[in-house]
Amino acid sequence: MNERDSEIMAQLLGEKGYVETGDSDQADLIILNTCSIRAKAEQKVMSMLGVLRKQKQHNPKLKICVAGCVAQQEGQQIIERMPHVDLVIGTQSLYQLTELLDDFGEHPVATRLSKDYQIPPFIPNLRADNHQKSPLTIPFKKFLTIMQGCNNYCSYCVVPFTRGNEISRNVSHILEEAYSLVEAGIKEITLLGQNVNSYGRTNVVSTETIDYSFADLLRAVSTIPGLRRLRFTTSNPKDLSDDLMRCFADIGILCPQFHLPVQSGSNRILSLMNRKYSRELYLEKVAALRSYCPDIALTTDMIVGFPGETDRDFEETMSLLEEVQYHGSFSFKYSDRPGTRSATFEDKVEETVKSERLRIFQSRQDEIGLKHNQGYVGKIFSVMIEKIGEDSIVGRTGTNHLVHIADTVCSYLPGEIVSARILHAGQHSLRGELVGKD
Ligand code: 5AD
Ligand code: SF4
Repeated sequence: MNERDSEIMAQLLGEKGYVETGDSDQADLIILNTCSIRAKAEQKVMSMLGVLRKQKQHNPKLKICVAGCVAQQEGQQIIERMPHVDLVIGTQSLYQLTELLDDFGEHPVATRLSKDYQIPPFIPNLRADNHQKSPLTIPFKKFLTIMQGCNNYCSYCVVPFTRGNEISRNVSHILEEAYSLVEAGIKEITLLGQNVNSYGRTNVVSTETIDYSFADLLRAVSTIPGLRRLRFTTSNPKDLSDDLMRCFADIGILCPQFHLPVQSGSNRILSLMNRKYSRELYLEKVAALRSYCPDIALTTDMIVGFPGETDRDFEETMSLLEEVQYHGSFSFKYSDRPGTRSATFEDKVEETVKSERLRIFQSRQDEIGLKHNQGYVGKIFSVMIEKIGEDSIVGRTGTNHLVHIADTVCSYLPGEIVSARILHAGQHSLRGELVGKD
């Protein structure tokens, strides 16, 4: 989501005549678009701001702006701690970036969060950009934001505080953006939201509901002529409907890949996390997904060391990993975030225990991921090309695995789809040979 927001800011600035520089020492404006999901991400922002203080001493014209979730959460305190910061832009003020840069008056902190916030229509200007690019660097895949914010209040999570209430974007705005992306040559779209499964429950205008589910939206986007691949992220298992799961059987361009964050394998911890589903319900959804799409690659997010997590709870997490056999996962040590409920929980798990549990989880996940990859050897996959090297091309399968393919002819362009037979499986990527073009 931050990546997409950065692109939006870049476009808004470009429309006002700003030019991107490859060398940050040359910049007159630097924006840090920040994440505060865990303490480590926030610490990175503060240390980067320390480095930028020195740069501003050499170039007093330099404007420094902090955007995103840390900006939203810390607001005025950023300027108090780091007086060389010129402007703080919160998550719902993104689209006012250039007006604020021109004139923020007496208030360099724009962090208002409103329940009635509407994500404005936004048409990417890829065509204009593409004119200046070589065919090898023209973008072929894009993110498309369909909603913002979250109402779930998982007890560890800062997102409802930094991105505000869940707000679904207008269907017509989303379709307009999707059509314009495909018209400009985009072949793959990933629909983005904190909890896409609840799309439509909250309208752009306050809390009124709209009669259009996420599955309806997927079906509508999938019919755009010229679009080759469709993905989405992220889902909350509690809202995952049968209608949506069936889309994996019905929509040809929907990639066989599903990121379904579970966070813990222990019902006791899931309840303390306020996740509102049980391990059993989660496993039922996994089984249903696999019945609709047997080859689906499942990934997840996992937190270890949540307050009160015992060895027994962690064993439940490990047994869930064994049961599901994820293709991959993002796993994290629990981190206290300001304002969240779990930050007030007692019984915090020691850092050394968290590190050990993370190591155990990740090393078993690596083995399982490698086993999945080895199972692909000898099979043929459609691969969308991402990069062209001198003697090889690199692309992705629908399951989102990277494939390196030897190719000295170099007759392909990024965004084209080829068929490749997998010859070798590594931990993080596959190697294949060309069999043909789709
Ligand atoms: N500590 C550790 N991990 C967290 N996540 C969210 N909040 C925290 C936290 N306080 C993880 C969750 C989420 C992912 C984006 O980040 O696993 O799915
Ligand atoms: Fe955070 Fe996701 Fe829970 Fe929302 S659903 S509070 S974004 S973890």
